[in-house]
Amino acid sequence: MNKKSNVPNLEAARAAYGNPNYERGTMYLPWPGHPLHYSHAYVVSNEDLRHTTGLTRDMGRKVLTVAGSGEQPLFYTLNNATQIDTFDISYCARAIMDIKTQAIKSGMPYEEYVQLLKDLHFKPSASQVSGMSEILPIIPAHSAKFVRGMDGYRIFGNGLSPEHYKKEMISGDEYSALQKKLTGHFNFIWSDVADLHTHLTTEYDVINLSNIFEWTPGLILPTLQNLRNHVRPGGYILVQTGCGLSIGRNMEAYVKASKTLKEWAKMGINKQERDTQVIILERVR
Ligand SMILES: C[S@@+](CC[C@H](N)C(=O)[O-])C[C@H]1O[C@@H](n2cnc3c(N)ncnc32)[C@H](O)[C@@H]1O
Repeated sequence: MNKKSNVPNLEAARAAYGNPNYERGTMYLPWPGHPLHYSHAYVVSNEDLRHTTGLTRDMGRKVLTVAGSGEQPLFYTLNNATQIDTFDISYCARAIMDIKTQAIKSGMPYEEYVQLLKDLHFKPSASQVSGMSEILPIIPAHSAKFVRGMDGYRIFGNGLSPEHYKKEMISGDEYSALQKKLTGHFNFIWSDVADLHTHLTTEYDVINLSNIFEWTPGLILPTLQNLRNHVRPGGYILVQTGCGLSIGRNMEAYVKASKTLKEWAKMGINKQERDTQVIILERVR
């Protein structure tokens, strides 16, 4: 991908998915595997983002986070962050994030929003899902064009149905709070985490790298080295979230990173009762 281009290429995206199957939709992401520029997105997160984003509540307003299902920036909004930039290797993550943000901002009732996510997950033509004709004209133009252009491709079909994540997803009360707090769309940087630093010109209070390194332990140390000057002294990088298993399999790489960066940052692990563990790094100088 050309670093300067933030515009998806429909031809390349359709070719990546193969021939459309209008009844069942297409899938192309090998799992486990490294996500690609048009990997189909999740519609909700499987993570306990209430906990993870709450770890840095009131420790800073300026956040850079993975877009994922869009739930990361939404939960950071609930935790009082006010300047939120997002990044993702997949353009589909940007599209679902924009759609969800707009649905909430537009005052869609909560039950309709829950149904919208379910439909977006299952139906092969996202732009034809009920409610989308009002949403698409008012989301960022490239995102809307991408969703329309990918009719017949199941671009939001990753993971399990949203019904599996009732506890993790935004609740009715959180939804009402978001309707008051959301002002615009989140900035989006379309980038592999390995190149993310080349797009950045500022320092953040918090950088959240979420569930990215499970399958790419080789990226842990170089990415942290590249991003170190983009978090303020006293700020945090949430290096990895996930269950102990996904963190444990890369423990060697985390120990190496912690030793290499020890003059610059403290690295620790936050554990809670459920499966969620967070490797967190605090910049000390
Ligand atoms: C495993 S998902 C889960 C995110 C989270 N559970 C959620 O839905 O909010 C992580 C996200 O990271 C993105 N991602 C994975 N590897 C990446 C990489 N090397 N660079 C940038 N983004 C990446 C994926 O495209 C996906 O949207």
